Amino acid sequence: MWSSRIAFIAAATGSAVGLGNIWRFPYITSENGGGAFVLIYLACIALVGLPIMFAEILIGRRGRMSPINSLRELSTASNANRSWALIGVLGIIAGFMILSFYSVVAGWTLHYAFLYFKEWIGVGASISDPGATFSALLGDVGELTFWHGFFMLMTVGVVGFGVEKGLERAVSLLMPVLLVLLLILLGYGMNTGHFYDAVGFLFKPDWTQVDGAMFVTALGQAFFTLSLGMCAIMTYGAYLPANISIPRTGAAVAGADTFVAIIAGLAIFPIIIANNIDPGSGGPGLIFTSLPLAFGQMPFGIFYGMLMFLLLAVAAWTSSISLMEPATAYLVEATNLSRKKAALIVAGLGWLLGLASVFSFNLWSEVEIVGKSPMDAIDYVATQIMLPVGGLLIALFAGWVLSSKITREELGENMPGWAFSAWLWITRVVTPALILVVLGGILGIF
Ligand code: TRP
Repeated sequence: MWSSRIAFIAAATGSAVGLGNIWRFPYITSENGGGAFVLIYLACIALVGLPIMFAEILIGRRGRMSPINSLRELSTASNANRSWALIGVLGIIAGFMILSFYSVVAGWTLHYAFLYFKEWIGVGASISDPGATFSALLGDVGELTFWHGFFMLMTVGVVGFGVEKGLERAVSLLMPVLLVLLLILLGYGMNTGHFYDAVGFLFKPDWTQVDGAMFVTALGQAFFTLSLGMCAIMTYGAYLPANISIPRTGAAVAGADTFVAIIAGLAIFPIIIANNIDPGSGGPGLIFTSLPLAFGQMPFGIFYGMLMFLLLAVAAWTSSISLMEPATAYLVEATNLSRKKAALIVAGLGWLLGLASVFSFNLWSEVEIVGKSPMDAIDYVATQIMLPVGGLLIALFAGWVLSSKITREELGENMPGWAFSAWLWITRVVTPALILVVLGGILGIF
């Protein structure tokens, strides 16, 4: 049981805030032309993310078990079909796929932290041409594979060997530092003279650019950044004490996550514009090629750079734990493996699948799956299809399968009556309809 509301908020925010906010949000915003995309994304957070956040927490707290078992229990108790538990299976697979490339990108941040560290202690060259440094990394299979493995082992250390205690304490100290660093970068961005251009890029919508694909991407990002759709937050909800308000707590997590993404965007885009990089150029290398430009000009830039990429890796670490936990917990329940062995198996398989993402940039740079590089294809299927399908099923389960007596008990006491009714009908109708329309777009039905 979490000792307090704050402990749950810290864990859930640790899961939510990660590469999704500081790496993925800026780069896909860039690829999607800014303003209109950001507003659609914010609408997805409010109309899809938040209701599903409440739904996941309440299912977890009501079931008090791992997702598959909670869902099975609650369906039986509601006289519904037990196959709703398959949501948990889908979540395990999606989490595993996301973990595979997440660890590769977290490895990039470790590599950058190490580059700055070497420069700081005077044994490494400075990053004078960030584009070249990034290309060199992508071409270096050994380096990529090493850091990917290193990060995976860091995650196993927590999930399998249960060193949460130390991590929890470290993280509650380090995450505020990350925020401070982002605010320093924001201050730097404001001084570039291009802050208002960045604000314009991020918030001034150009509706002519909007197409179906943009909705799919924005919806996927809403799920990804809030850690929703694969029962990660549900798992955390199982440990939430009964007297704590789900609406307030869920809203705090979603609010904190959105805040970090927006600050990251406001910090990064002035740097991009000030350095004459096309803000629409995007790509997964965006922060790795733009941030070093700023660190190269700032006083103590080498030190900031080292700290920034290190803390980004820590933020990724607290997120990858929640990606790995469901599959590990399931293996422990379903077999008689120890937790350590189960975690090592999940990590080993995740590492192997992650090699497809490593090779996307070098050995397999010609390979295309559904018109995308292997890494983009894995990201696309997991984030843009599996998470929304998981979220759709979670919303339908919470809205229609669970009796409104149960949901009212879990949510209603902490919400005015009208707000509960609003949640119930949004979860029953609006959220599923929005997801269906967007997914229908992918399948070419609309
Ligand atoms: N939300 C995390 C991020 O933004 C990534 C993450 C952790 C995640 N757990 C998840 C994404 C579960 C989807 C589902 O970096």
